[in-house]
Amino acid sequence: MSRKLPTVDDGAPAMPQRGPYIVQVEAGKTYRWCSCGLSLNQPWCDDSHAGTGFEPIEFEAPISGEFHMCGCKQSDNKPYCFGTCRGHVPGDPKWDLF
Ligand code: FES
Repeated sequence: MSRKLPTVDDGAPAMPQRGPYIVQVEAGKTYRWCSCGLSLNQPWCDDSHAGTGFEPIEFEAPISGEFHMCGCKQSDNKPYCFGTCRGHVPGDPKWDLF
């Protein structure tokens, strides 16, 4: 049985996890966050996106510490978890304190 790859045209990446990956990062180090959801090295890119049209989001960690990286791939503040996995909708007053 073959698995359908997500594509940019679909607009929906795969969802490896409905919640953040909690990882340690080092200040000044560059990371590539998986945006297609296919990487076997979540939340980081392992180049599984080839042919999907998705590209990893590269970022340099501003500080060392624990980061919550989006695992649902639907965050409104990629590559970080923004609560979208828990129903957060930007501008919705019920989430003002999130
Ligand atoms: S894991 Fe994607 S918004 Fe939380």
